[in-house]
Amino acid sequence: MNEKLALYGGPKAKPTPALPMYPGGLEIGDEERAQVLEVLDNKYLFRYYGPANVQSKVAKLEEEFAQRFGSAHALAVTSCTGALITSLVACAVGPGDEVLVTGYTFFASCAAIVAAKAIPVIVEVDETLTMDPEDMERKITPSTRAVVVVHMRGVSCNMDAVMRIAKKHNLIVIEDAAQAVGGTYKGKSLGTFGDCGCYSFQYHKIITAGEGGMVVTDDDRLYDRCMSYHDTAACWRPNRFAEQRYEGELFCGTNYRMSELTGAVMLAQLHKLDMLLENMRKNQRRIAGQIENVPGIKLRPVNDPEGDTGICLMFYLEKKDQVSLFAEALQAEGVPAAGVYNSGLPDWHIYAHWKHVLEKKTPTPEGCPWTCPYHTGEEVTYSADMNPNTLEYLSRVVHLDIAPQMTEEDCDMTAAAIQKVASALL
Ligand SMILES: Cc1ncc(COP(=O)(O)O)c(C=O)c1O
Repeated sequence: MNEKLALYGGPKAKPTPALPMYPGGLEIGDEERAQVLEVLDNKYLFRYYGPANVQSKVAKLEEEFAQRFGSAHALAVTSCTGALITSLVACAVGPGDEVLVTGYTFFASCAAIVAAKAIPVIVEVDETLTMDPEDMERKITPSTRAVVVVHMRGVSCNMDAVMRIAKKHNLIVIEDAAQAVGGTYKGKSLGTFGDCGCYSFQYHKIITAGEGGMVVTDDDRLYDRCMSYHDTAACWRPNRFAEQRYEGELFCGTNYRMSELTGAVMLAQLHKLDMLLENMRKNQRRIAGQIENVPGIKLRPVNDPEGDTGICLMFYLEKKDQVSLFAEALQAEGVPAAGVYNSGLPDWHIYAHWKHVLEKKTPTPEGCPWTCPYHTGEEVTYSADMNPNTLEYLSRVVHLDIAPQMTEEDCDMTAAAIQKVASALL
């Protein structure tokens, strides 16, 4: 029995309003207000000093974050892009080096490599929409120094395979967990497998202060070097002007220091992380359980379902031509779904739209890093169709955000909408 699609004038399967995807942002309330007011009342707005003798919110956030994620060190910065650049520089990745990164990630993961003056090499994703370990290994050359693995749309990469290949080829591993804060792989926090892990607190992310980021590492020296780069004023040093304690501790850095106001909001948000994860996972599983056997739909396989943050639900249709009408029909039913890759629609999460990389656009005319004389390998080249598997998977996938604020009724109506559209269109 096919009910008439809302797209063609039938009743909506989900008449309740769609919730915007600001998981932590929509939970901002008394706790964040109290933390921020404390900062203002103390007039203590800079982490390293102020008129009152109080503990820095940023320092407290780092302490709690490191503990929650099981890492020796956490360093708060202004964004995940800043965290990625800081990590790459701290690991001494730079001129002459090639760095692997997947072609399905927000463009910033790739731009950070260029900002660190290294050359990005774009790797395929597999059906999990995270790094394809086979293609990762295939794209390693004598110039490859590091890999930026992205835990894309809330789920882990195949970290066993990634770490095994990285070890075999002596590669530095930087994890981009911007979209997967709180996710795990085999029980261990994403971001804590590699040399450095990076997180985003931008407004669309799981926990947020509008902007912000974090680096974690277990390595004491890498931590020093991250601090060195993120605060070139060396306020973090017990004696700023003292000689460096070892070669490589001090160098010209930048300023990615997190403000106390951001730290205050983030402290309150960190305390809400487990609640947000629990709700998103519950909602995602409730919907997935109702659609997993729908003919013509295949749920995105996940490397470790237990550790999925639950921020979204992605499923494949058999043919890419089915996707736009399917998504349009879901939207009409009241479910804001979307396809992912469409060559005609610009989206900076897919390498084929990274025009500035494909065309090697640089801020200065000499073309660094692509013309770097320290790069001795073959020239790295790009084209929009260089990673066909990535485009094929992304052109067949439908994406739905899963807000933690959805009710059980919202979830059931979402599942009913997917069933209805599938039975009418597939
Ligand atoms: C996978 C990924 N990496 C990096 C970033 C950059 O994060 P930020 O905006 O905090 O610099 C984002 C943000 O959207 C992202 O999704």
